[in-house]
Amino acid sequence: MCGVVGYVGKEQAAPILLDGLAKLEYRGYDSAGVAVFGDSIKVQKCEGRLKVLHKKIKGGSSMSGTMGIGHTRWATHGEPSDANSHPHTSAEENVAVVHNGIIENYLELKDFLKNHGCVFTSDTDTEVIAHLIDHYHDHDPLKTLIKVMNKLEGSYALGIMFSENPGELYAVRKDSPLIVGLSKGGNFIASDIPAVLPHTRDVYLLNDKEIVRLTADAVKIFNTDEEPIKKDVYHVEWDVSSAEKGGYEHFMFKEIMEQPKAVRETVRPRVKRGKIVPDEFQMSPEDVKNIDKIHIIACGSAYHAGVVGKYLIEKMARIPVEVDLASEFLYRSPMITNRTLMLVISQSGETLDTLRALREAKRLGGRVLSVVNVVGSSIARESDDIIYTWAGPEIAVATTKAYSTQLAVIYLLAEYFAVQKGIKNAEQTAAFLDELAKIPAKIEQIIKNTENIQFLASQFAAAKDVFFLGRGIDYAVALEGSLKLKEISYVHSEAYAAGELKHGTISLIEKGTPVVALATQDELFDKIMSNIREVKARGAVVLAVVPENQPTAEQFADHVLYVPKTIPELTPSLAVIPLQLFGYYMAAERGCDIDKPRNLAKSVTVE
Ligand code: F6R
Repeated sequence: MCGVVGYVGKEQAAPILLDGLAKLEYRGYDSAGVAVFGDSIKVQKCEGRLKVLHKKIKGGSSMSGTMGIGHTRWATHGEPSDANSHPHTSAEENVAVVHNGIIENYLELKDFLKNHGCVFTSDTDTEVIAHLIDHYHDHDPLKTLIKVMNKLEGSYALGIMFSENPGELYAVRKDSPLIVGLSKGGNFIASDIPAVLPHTRDVYLLNDKEIVRLTADAVKIFNTDEEPIKKDVYHVEWDVSSAEKGGYEHFMFKEIMEQPKAVRETVRPRVKRGKIVPDEFQMSPEDVKNIDKIHIIACGSAYHAGVVGKYLIEKMARIPVEVDLASEFLYRSPMITNRTLMLVISQSGETLDTLRALREAKRLGGRVLSVVNVVGSSIARESDDIIYTWAGPEIAVATTKAYSTQLAVIYLLAEYFAVQKGIKNAEQTAAFLDELAKIPAKIEQIIKNTENIQFLASQFAAAKDVFFLGRGIDYAVALEGSLKLKEISYVHSEAYAAGELKHGTISLIEKGTPVVALATQDELFDKIMSNIREVKARGAVVLAVVPENQPTAEQFADHVLYVPKTIPELTPSLAVIPLQLFGYYMAAERGCDIDKPRNLAKSVTVE
């Protein structure tokens, strides 16, 4: 949560910072601010969207100086307000700080600083950092920052300026993302690559507890022993347009439309001459046979992809799978051994709950394979093996294309394990891969014709509650459909295993309650149709999602959305698309801020 940017170079800093923040607004959008170093450090900040700050500082033209830091906030400590916005400064404004993360011992530090006479003007944990830096300041920024880092507990990505060090920008990170952008015109820090892409494709991916000193023409990185660190430059391959709307009204819609490409690019490099080659991650047949359990950990939509993983890996590869919400994993004494394969799924690679669970799993002896979208992210770096989802940058807060690519990796892994265990022969794998290769074109077929979904959304837009039902793997997809709807349209919604509804929840169904029923599995079709009958008898209006070969659904449901036919294992990739579009159009009908839903942020780096 929160976006951090910084620039030092030859150009005016403020407009560059505002542009960078615009690319990071998905990370937090309840307030924004910048500090620019001209003759001295000047701060401007305010509650509200970035456009409020933009107006306040006249697009940056009212602030002069070629070095600065900026921030877009997702409130954790203290409500969104002008005073709680970043940057925060020490009393004399000789230190300015922007921060992404959470300082866990901030109350203790605050008491300590108050006892030394510090007066606080905000409720934030970040203000503590500014005062602490000032308190330990001994005219050597590097030494000062090391001292401060030793006092801080929690997570942080910090951009820092010292009034007595003009032309020097400092940055450090721990458990919150931060990259350094390198260009001839100046150097940058940012929470995420899109913020620097208009200026450079060459970046450093920082590790925890590295300290960076940036000047207009040099970047030096140090460890906490003050020793310089050499780092490889990471050259960003994807285009700046991937992180822009490109004519679409919303990133979410653009990203839904990008799914065929994202899935194709995730699958293609891993299929070679009819075999699955999941990158560097290789397990011999003996290794796979030695796995006694796969334990999936993830949050939100990535968790829902994990639930699909449980159904498929158990069905296809006959390996027991547990799937846990990362935030719960730590609190239930999980049984992990060196025969457990941990499968960690995350788009951002920075979700703190997931990262903490990963560390605990490693401590307990599990081997960690992560499925991550952001190259070089913390989860990727701390895993034993990584399979990247090649979805490209995902900007909309509600995930679509990253989820679809996570599914694609799960299919590949389930089939790979089945092959290694000798459950599938070459011919069966070829047939499976052949079907998988057709999925992108089938998604294209669905997204080409969205009018009927838009129409249905207009019919349901006033709904107060929507229920999603499914059995088997459809239940896993129902979870995702329900989350998509509620997070962006603010319509309350629940997903239920269709057989479970009658054990309590059916009492909520009344005349006119919309129910979305998924019925993609031929063998479960009749059972789901019975469930549809049950809810219709209580007044529900039913929208069914079924494959093309099941037109009889029209006898049961009020509305039917068809998806192309595929093999049962791959149906989640098709069934989820109309649900994403349904959520999108419902939110549009209701006038919601689709890309930036209230109270949310893209990357959840707090527990
Ligand atoms: C929902 C959504 C979230 C994320 C969750 C995990 O649309 O995007 O539920 O899936 O916050 O994030 P990552 O995948 O970055 O770990």
